[in-house]
Amino acid sequence: MVENGRLLAATLASQANLHAIFGGVVPELASREHLRFIGPLFDELLAKSGLKAAALDSIAVARGPGLLGSLLTGMAFAKGLALALGIPLIGVNHLHAHLLACGLEHELAFPALGLIVSGGHTEIYRMESPVDFVRLGRTLDDAAGEVFDKVGHALGLAYPAGRAIDELAQAESSQTEKFPRPYLGNDNLDFSFSGLKTAAVNRAGVLGLHGQSGHMLAMFCRALNEAVADTLAIKAERALAANPDLKTLYLAGGVAANSMVREKLAAFMARRGGKMLVPTKALCSDNAAMIAYAGWLLAKAGYGHDLTLEAIPRGRKIPDDYIQLQKQS
Ligand code: KG4
Ligand code: ZN
Repeated sequence: MVENGRLLAATLASQANLHAIFGGVVPELASREHLRFIGPLFDELLAKSGLKAAALDSIAVARGPGLLGSLLTGMAFAKGLALALGIPLIGVNHLHAHLLACGLEHELAFPALGLIVSGGHTEIYRMESPVDFVRLGRTLDDAAGEVFDKVGHALGLAYPAGRAIDELAQAESSQTEKFPRPYLGNDNLDFSFSGLKTAAVNRAGVLGLHGQSGHMLAMFCRALNEAVADTLAIKAERALAANPDLKTLYLAGGVAANSMVREKLAAFMARRGGKMLVPTKALCSDNAAMIAYAGWLLAKAGYGHDLTLEAIPRGRKIPDDYIQLQKQS
């Protein structure tokens, strides 16, 4: 819940433990969990904020990209609220919301470079304003988070494994393993992480690291951290070389919590005389606060939707189908 661009209250439910049993997100279970939690979370939010639903003056909802069943659950709830309360509905691009989340803690500056790195997406944007995003590059196959999660599976770590791999890597200073920095021999800003994923999964098998602990495992994790961080940093540098007017980099998504990704990008931006901004860890992973904030920015600029708003699954382009709202003060 956001008021004047500031967070009033937030609630969050995680399904990670459920999906961990299967080693990855099971879409049908994800939608059912959304359905189970969405009502109680909304009640908890109102209780925390001390407000009644009637105090809300607009409702923002993640319209995609994402898993369709989960998006539809949120969409139905948001449309119900919009209809019952007679307030505007604002459909928010989930990836844009990740990149704008920094604005809950810092003054946003535009234009800027946006790098979103999560379990499902790895994309680079030129951000002209909170509403106007130009995609410069994307992953052609797996996202960077998928590398951590699938390699983590091969190591016998619980899903999602990014954080555990990062912690093991941070405890290690030496390194003998070296993984490829994939898909750099080209002049585009796209990524391809499936080869690195396969190489690291295979190597984990050869080294017999499944269920192991100790020095070998930590060195392996450090090498993986470095390969992912280097690849992201190199493409971000190229994006900035092609867009020299950009002085700010917004880093977002679950993998933005990675220590080495943060370190390399922050150092690079500092060398250029610019800065990297990344949300606090709680705002890096999927959360409703960032959706509310992005919705607030859109509403402020007069953008919204009506009840025909559609959920857009992963892989389909999100249309620019805003309608003009009355500007909010
Ligand atoms: O943005 P997010 O919470 O969910 C979506 O994928 O939309 O990102 C989750 C991803 C998972 O792949 C998880 O392993 C990864 O973020 N992750 C990390 C770290 N913390 C979470 N990856 C590397 N290092 C971390 N510290
Ligand atoms: Zn996300």
